[in-house]
Amino acid sequence: MASFYDLDHQWRDYAKQADLVREILPESGEVLDLCCGSGSHAVQLALRGFNVFAVDRSADLVLQAQKKLADFSAQVTVQEEDIFNLHEWIHLHSRFDAALLLGWTLSVDPMFERLEKLLDVLSSLLKPEGVFIFDAPIGTNFNRVSQEPLEYETPQGSRGVLNIEMKKDAKKKKVDFSYRWNIFQEGGKL
Ligand SMILES: C[S@@+](CC[C@H](N)C(=O)[O-])C[C@H]1O[C@@H](n2cnc3c(N)ncnc32)[C@H](O)[C@@H]1O
Repeated sequence: MASFYDLDHQWRDYAKQADLVREILPESGEVLDLCCGSGSHAVQLALRGFNVFAVDRSADLVLQAQKKLADFSAQVTVQEEDIFNLHEWIHLHSRFDAALLLGWTLSVDPMFERLEKLLDVLSSLLKPEGVFIFDAPIGTNFNRVSQEPLEYETPQGSRGVLNIEMKKDAKKKKVDFSYRWNIFQEGGKL
């Protein structure tokens, strides 16, 4: 699944989010990229002069990020780690100007339920004036994504189609998503 991560996220504007981080932090430059996925934010942040410490608990995604960031080895470290263990990393204490949790990760179950623990971890890792930057899904984004299937070509030349369906339950203030991937090869469906 990790190898399809970038294909399914082609529609995202990582550069724009990195620009926003630069706007928030015009001078400083030590960024902790929590749940970094395949490292696309880290690339854009490195291009804008940030030093990045990126972590994700998925070994496959960390490998993908390390490959993608090989040219930025002086600026970016990518490590396999559960973000809820980061409080044990004494050497990282008070090091960061910003901690990022992007890609709507805060809304991924059960991340939000553990927000208090997360803030506790971050309070020791951020500098006193450090900031926590996260994004959250809003209806318009998902409406846009869910209207039409997303089509892409895999590196092997086969065609992939991703359908995202969204069911809103306004009463329960709940949104359920279902993801369906179809990968096609010449002459048939895989
Ligand atoms: C929705 S993806 C976002 C990835 C990336 N930030 C982006 O915007 O492309 C969520 C990521 O969080 C990672 N993740 C979830 N829980 C985690 C945890 N407790 N510690 C570290 N990584 C975690 C997953 O492996 C996945 O890569």
